[in-house]
Amino acid sequence: MISQNINPDFYNDLDLSFTKAWDMIEPGASKRSSPAHTPVVGTVNDHGEPQLRVMVLRAADRNTRRLRFHTDIRSTKIQEVEKLSSASVLMYDPDMKLQLRLSGCLSVAIEGDDVNDAWQTSTTFARRCYMAENAPGSLSVEATSGLPLWIEGKQPDEDQLGDARANFALLWFEARSLELLYLANVGHRRAKWDWDDAAAIWSGRWLVP
Ligand SMILES: Cc1cc2nc3c(=O)[nH]c(=O)nc-3n(C[C@H](O)[C@H](O)[C@H](O)COP(=O)(O)O)c2cc1C
Repeated sequence: MISQNINPDFYNDLDLSFTKAWDMIEPGASKRSSPAHTPVVGTVNDHGEPQLRVMVLRAADRNTRRLRFHTDIRSTKIQEVEKLSSASVLMYDPDMKLQLRLSGCLSVAIEGDDVNDAWQTSTTFARRCYMAENAPGSLSVEATSGLPLWIEGKQPDEDQLGDARANFALLWFEARSLELLYLANVGHRRAKWDWDDAAAIWSGRWLVP
């Protein structure tokens, strides 16, 4: 009986594993059903405590090593990033049994073509989030959406968005390391790549899972 090789092509191939990782990340920006669409983004607060939250991946490009997220300029994560840019991004595809752990730094952008394009190409429903009257995370004496009552349950038009654009920011994540963990019955696989600034290349190696 011929035994069937059930391992994927990247199983023992470091370069293919790297390609596989980015093949999982990049479609997350456009494909809502992709597990990479809603990664966990980690920052560090003033007390050195990790702060994790789910965010929607808006763009990803292996050539620039950058991922793009949208957020409210008033949110706590912005204050954290402005003090310490170190960040990580975590995603897991349960069908592929693939975990990806990226480390790098985040930067905030509030002006420029990228920000304007991201704002203009978002639906007005998505942009409604930025109409919140008080900062995300601020205390409220009652249960609240934070939105003005007149727009709750409605999709605003361009005029109704008012000056919500002032609350909109991009968070750019630049990856400096990428770690892959593949779960397999026959034996797991783990690999890590670090970005080498001087050579401008990713340098990868296998790790014990
Ligand atoms: C599915 C999902 C998607 C989310 N997407 C975003 C997002 O794209 N941007 C964002 O700022 N918050 C997003 N959030 C909310 C964050 O998880 C978090 O609660 C919020 O940004 C406040 O985080 P902070 O206090 O650490 O700034 C999302 C939450 C969920 C559950």
